Amino acid sequence: MDQSGIAPHNMSDIELKKFVELIYNQCGISLNSAKKSMLSARFGKRLRALGISSYKEYYDFVTQTLGKNDELIQMIDAVTTNTTHFFREANHFSYLTEHALPNLPNSGTLLRVWSAGCSTGEEPYTLAMVLSEHYENHHGNFSILATDVSSSVLQKAKQAVYDDEMALKVPALIKRKYMMQGKGAQAGNWRVIPELRKKIKFGKLNFMDNVYGIEGKFDIIFCRNVIIYFDLETKVKLINYFHKYLDPGGYLFIGHSETLNGLNDDFKAVAPTVYRKPDGQEQIARRRAA
Ligand SMILES: C[S@@+](CC[C@H](N)C(=O)[O-])C[C@H]1O[C@@H](n2cnc3c(N)ncnc32)[C@H](O)[C@@H]1O
Repeated sequence: MDQSGIAPHNMSDIELKKFVELIYNQCGISLNSAKKSMLSARFGKRLRALGISSYKEYYDFVTQTLGKNDELIQMIDAVTTNTTHFFREANHFSYLTEHALPNLPNSGTLLRVWSAGCSTGEEPYTLAMVLSEHYENHHGNFSILATDVSSSVLQKAKQAVYDDEMALKVPALIKRKYMMQGKGAQAGNWRVIPELRKKIKFGKLNFMDNVYGIEGKFDIIFCRNVIIYFDLETKVKLINYFHKYLDPGGYLFIGHSETLNGLNDDFKAVAPTVYRKPDGQEQIARRRAA
């Protein structure tokens, strides 16, 4: 029993099934019954916060108040897995500068990058650090759009404050250049410098939405460690969106344990977990060969 005196009963299989359906419909995340203890623990915190004593009551509260309060958002926040860190899957960033940028016509003007499923910001800030380093020696500039479904991770991302342990993942020279060390009450924390923060626009986006409201196209999309949670239908829908939002010749980076096999035949694998949308010439050649 917690301090509020409320001890939620165990989640029944029927309740679990209803939550799994709701989560799938609202954010495309496909959970199975093995996730019962994870959901019970995470929702238990919401039950306590709201003073609700059963999972059934919580389900009714979330569904009956849809659109009337933000409990659905809180529920999605509780369900999503937000693990991330700076320079995660570091070979993607070397591939980006060594192979992708030299092949992109826009890299000499304004490169547009989308970090889709950006979590607490480490991925888009890593991109901003790597691209800033690149553009010290090359013509051009860049802008980054970073989106996530979870309001709480976006709030943290916008603050751009990370503790020592997180900041350790940033190579020392880069950290010295792009992060400020906190003092006084902020000792032990690091904040990304304003010049880099300005390069990133954060926004809330649920991949399940029918309209994304994003203008223009991108040269590069990072959507890493996100599609792993989705079922086949949702993966296909999302990858088709990415295809639409990439300029011809643009690159899509996905997580190291993810694949586009069976999701979209038009992307060409150019390195492990790095894909390219064919450019105009290749598209014509493919159509002729078909
Ligand atoms: C494991 S994190 C990955 C973070 C980062 N891309 C990385 O690789 O380090 C997955 C992120 O996907 C987000 N996500 C899950 N479902 C989503 C949806 N339906 N729409 C948008 N973002 C979603 C989660 O909120 C979470 O922040």
